[in-house]
Amino acid sequence: MPRVTFIHPDGKSGEVPERVTLLDAAEALGFPLKHDCGGSASCSTCRVEVLMGGEHLSDIDFEEQDLLDREALTEPYHRLGCQAMVLGDVVVQVPEDRDVPAAESREASNAVKN
Ligand code: FES
Repeated sequence: MPRVTFIHPDGKSGEVPERVTLLDAAEALGFPLKHDCGGSASCSTCRVEVLMGGEHLSDIDFEEQDLLDREALTEPYHRLGCQAMVLGDVVVQVPEDRDVPAAESREASNAVKN
């Protein structure tokens, strides 16, 4: 099985079944990768920077490329976690400003207000 590594202060690494998306891999490994649109290639909160193994991800389809272009995420090599399927070992960097799931963000912001 392919090994996926999420580089982040709370990062995770582990083996996942082939052909799962990076988002599904993150969930399987217990890493809270954001996914505000639920995986429909419309928000880009699931984006990751591919550090190694880009050739082991599925090809970028039209919807993913369109969103990457609109968000100016073509350089360095970014992928949408909800669209990129794992075909082999891969290492991705998760932006630290994109790491906290919405529910935790709300709790944190409420804690600041209280
Ligand atoms: S979860 Fe919204 S684009 Fe991937």
